[in-house]
Amino acid sequence: MAITERVFSGVQPTGNLHLGNYLGAIVNFVKLQETHNCVYCVVDMHAITVPVTVWGGPDELRRNTREVTAAFIASGIDPAKQIIFNQSQVSGHAELAWVFNCVARLGWLNRMTQFKEKAGKDRENASVGLYDYPVLMASDILLYRATHVPVGEDQKQHLELCRDIAQKFNNDFSASIAAQGHDGNYFPMPEPVITGAATRVMSLRDGTKKMSKSDASDNSRINLTDDADTIAQKIRRAKTDPEPLPSEEDGLKTRPEADNLVGIYSALADRPKSEVLREFGGAQFSGFKTSLADLAVEKLAPIAAEMKRLTGDPGYIDQVLTDGGDRARAIANETMNAVRDIMGFIHKR
Ligand code: TYM
Repeated sequence: MAITERVFSGVQPTGNLHLGNYLGAIVNFVKLQETHNCVYCVVDMHAITVPVTVWGGPDELRRNTREVTAAFIASGIDPAKQIIFNQSQVSGHAELAWVFNCVARLGWLNRMTQFKEKAGKDRENASVGLYDYPVLMASDILLYRATHVPVGEDQKQHLELCRDIAQKFNNDFSASIAAQGHDGNYFPMPEPVITGAATRVMSLRDGTKKMSKSDASDNSRINLTDDADTIAQKIRRAKTDPEPLPSEEDGLKTRPEADNLVGIYSALADRPKSEVLREFGGAQFSGFKTSLADLAVEKLAPIAAEMKRLTGDPGYIDQVLTDGGDRARAIANETMNAVRDIMGFIHKR
């Protein structure tokens, strides 16, 4: 079977979806649906790789899964045209992950910086799932033989690992892949789609730290559920430096907070940074922040309102997820049957 272009991406239901998730990933999910068949997944099995006290237990997981689904729909992804579902509904993710566990090498996983960051000093106490997280992520993507993966910059290394796994699988089993009648490489080499002015949105309190769900300070991020007043207040309080804004991008190089706010403006306005600086260069931050707050409220407040409306109807959300799950499973089953044949696993046809 020939490889066709397909988009896959995932978001963890771990609470506090923020502007980084939106500008780094979800905005591109929305754009790509115009040109591609897309599969967007709420990765609930990835969410449970941290301690249960962190992911919050079953009620919290259900609530967060519905909230991410609502964010997808409220941002403009059409669940009738594209597939939106939660990972645990399609058993192929875990099954393919086992095969890939036997393809991926320990040395590859030992290099993963996100594991080191998340496990921290107490590595002995991290879950095996957290260590294996990137293998499950490769399975997510390759189960749909996806060719394009829109993500923020922090996922680049995981995408490289996914390509390494695809390549090693194709090499290790090349004879069997050919014997099963597949042309050339069975798994595609998925390309990361890391585009826009905000592929790495930084904390509003510290321009050298990534905006993150887990930051203790809520003022460090704009949550997708924040109302208009909260959004405006967080932007007003955002850390800046005393200089006026530069007129050219070069002038942002040593000014992480300024760079971050200009990047956010540029991404929200869908205008290049250079153009934003032409307009605001020489201005004081107070004026720029007012314009940024207005823009952020204009773009984000309607999403928050729609998310609230949608999460008020969990029956509808669950219907979207189960319908998406059925459509995802149909694609996944085809891949898993081919993988069983390639591996020599006897199965019912
Ligand atoms: P998660 O839930 O941590 O993040 C979801 C998406 O948001 C992006 N992102 C950011 N982008 C810009 N600036 C930031 N500060 C920022 N913080 C987060 C992430 O890069 C991501 O695109 N491992 C994935 C989930 C996943 C996945 C997959 C993604 C599981 N399987 C398969 C793609 C394909 C993650 O980090 O999710």
